[in-house]
Amino acid sequence: MKTFENMWDELKPYLRCEIGLDEGYADGKYTRYFAKYCKHIIGVDISEDFYKQAKENLKDLDNVDLKIMDALHVDYPDKYFGVILCTSFHEFDMSGKEEFKMDLDLKRNILKEMSRLSDTIVFAEPSTDNLSSTLYKVFNPIEEHAIRTQKSNELIDEVLTELGYKQVLCDRAVDKIYYNSREEFEEDMLSWWAEVHVPSSEEEKKEMIGKIDEILDSKGFLDNLCFDDVFRYAVYRRE
Ligand SMILES: C[S@@+](CC[C@H](N)C(=O)[O-])C[C@H]1O[C@@H](n2cnc3c(N)ncnc32)[C@H](O)[C@@H]1O
Repeated sequence: MKTFENMWDELKPYLRCEIGLDEGYADGKYTRYFAKYCKHIIGVDISEDFYKQAKENLKDLDNVDLKIMDALHVDYPDKYFGVILCTSFHEFDMSGKEEFKMDLDLKRNILKEMSRLSDTIVFAEPSTDNLSSTLYKVFNPIEEHAIRTQKSNELIDEVLTELGYKQVLCDRAVDKIYYNSREEFEEDMLSWWAEVHVPSSEEEKKEMIGKIDEILDSKGFLDNLCFDDVFRYAVYRRE
């Protein structure tokens, strides 16, 4: 499988432009890669908490302008962006609190809004076989994250094809995230889904860490203290 660096190398020619849009920047991890290639980036995210985190994490970059804005209505003119990078599309719909649900109409409308803004759209998201889908269940047992991601990928392909785009690249890569200790690894796993659920007591935390360890052990990740974050990336272009 390709490495995470290979993935950015392949995406580089598409990400190089004057003004790019980063949709769902979260803590800004992927914005930092995007900022190496794109001259000026406007980032939109719906969450005020993530806005604060990303602002702090990216304060050394002078080509990134972060906004709190819904991807459904991005307040910029048609074709304003040379490229859109979206590393969160599978999570733009997290409907269903009592039972697992998906709001594909919401996603369809976000894709239409993307198509108003740019002729090049790059998606890079956890792959359906990423262990994160199994880990998500520790935080929300009703969530079927692999199904949500799979349906999301199918919808991207269907809607963008309807809108005149062609898929020009699609592959998978692995970001190997190394940890110094088992405790650091466990704490990072807890923080990944802190917006979904934070343990309410030490007892619950212990119980959740037990479940997380069991899942990580099933792939031998705790032996080498490395999480294989597997990505699927795809580029869509319209002439
Ligand atoms: C879990 S994060 C994804 C983090 C990272 N990009 C990744 O793939 O690992 C999902 C992000 O999408 C943002 N988001 C969800 N719905 C959105 C919307 N309608 N408009 C803009 N951002 C949205 C969330 O606030 C969050 O920052």
